Amino acid sequence: MRTTVGIIGAGPAGLLLARLLHNAGIDSVVLESRDRAYVEQRQRAGILEQGTVDVLRAAGAGGRMDREGLRHDGIELRFARERHRVDFPALTGGSSVMVYAQTEVCKDLIALQLEEGSPLLFGAEALAVEGAESERPRVRFRHEGREDVLECDYVVGCDGFWGVARRAIPAEHSRVFERTYPFGWLGILADVPPSHDELVYARHDRGFALLSMRSPVVSRLYLQVPEGTDAGSWADEEIWDELGRRLETADGWSLERGTITSKSVTPMRSHVHEPMRHGRLFLAGDAAHIVPPTGAKGLNLAVGDVVTFARALVHLEETGSAERLDAYSETCLRRVWQAERFSYDMTTLLHRAPDATPFEDRVQLARLRRIATSRAAETDLAEGYTGFPLD
Ligand code: APR
Ligand code: PHB
Repeated sequence: MRTTVGIIGAGPAGLLLARLLHNAGIDSVVLESRDRAYVEQRQRAGILEQGTVDVLRAAGAGGRMDREGLRHDGIELRFARERHRVDFPALTGGSSVMVYAQTEVCKDLIALQLEEGSPLLFGAEALAVEGAESERPRVRFRHEGREDVLECDYVVGCDGFWGVARRAIPAEHSRVFERTYPFGWLGILADVPPSHDELVYARHDRGFALLSMRSPVVSRLYLQVPEGTDAGSWADEEIWDELGRRLETADGWSLERGTITSKSVTPMRSHVHEPMRHGRLFLAGDAAHIVPPTGAKGLNLAVGDVVTFARALVHLEETGSAERLDAYSETCLRRVWQAERFSYDMTTLLHRAPDATPFEDRVQLARLRRIATSRAAETDLAEGYTGFPLD
């Protein structure tokens, strides 16, 4: 098999890249190891930055998002039983975010790709990327029990944190920057209307809690739990009790309970692989970087990477200049590190480390009060949350 751009992975990064290339008249093949149902059901965050919304619309993939997504103009911070709303458009000159689940973004992009786009193969597991330093890189893969080779002009590894693409970059050219956090998130989906109309990020002495949503009738909620917690060790009633405690306010707000339909634990990690390019192999999305979920930057970063790649390749085709393609890693990493910083700040602002000292607790509360009382501090949060510019 032969194509211009071989894409490994059909998460948001790989799927959007295939769509952007299709729109630019560049052919590609997407190899995805899992089946379609799995990819369409995997639960992930659900906040789209303004820039991500604009990109999906421009790619012709925003129809259902615009009908079913919920535009959010702010979030609420809770601490010490107080509440403080951060008004995004007022602080950023008009930006907002969209609540639209990543699973839905994937479903929309898969449907478009299968209808109009280049081949998208499910059950096709990439085994290795070869010849990244040559003019003709290859992806060895297994599909329907047979081994095959995809010959490409470029390979883009969109295969997530556990993928194979990153391994094709020799260790002497790689640097990894990493931090793990001594806690995770226990996440639930529940059939109950959200108890607040915007997301609520709560700092509490017992740990962080987040109230989010998937639709007007489905809530998504999270609790900070110790690293390595088994989701099954929490009974449904215990989860609601704990959410109630951590989200409690002095003004009598109350949390509606409903049937829990899913329960899982997400570990928390910051990870960046540099560079994001080796020869004709490019890394995009989680294959190159991971952020802790506080602030929901993962999907938005993946979108930034593939837009940068697609624009650079179009620039090469139109002008003959590889300048932008050569700058891919540097261009992406500038934005990646801003999102890493933002996610780290949000995480340390709101979570309680198991060994937190009383001094650190006071500093954390002071940071929150600063955001609640200084327009400059609040603007910094609002700009980070609604997203950093692409160029
Ligand atoms: N061959 C083919 N496909 C693979 C392989 C392989 N060897 N290894 C992994 N994959 C597939 C996975 O099954 C998955 O569908 O690559 C895809 C990677 O998708 P994601 O993990 O969703 O990563 P990405 O597209 O970069 O999206 C980033 O996902 O993890 C979240 O929070 C993160 O929202 C962010 C987004
Ligand atoms: C989610 O809805 O899953 C979500 C929302 C905001 C976050 C993380 C996850 O910061």
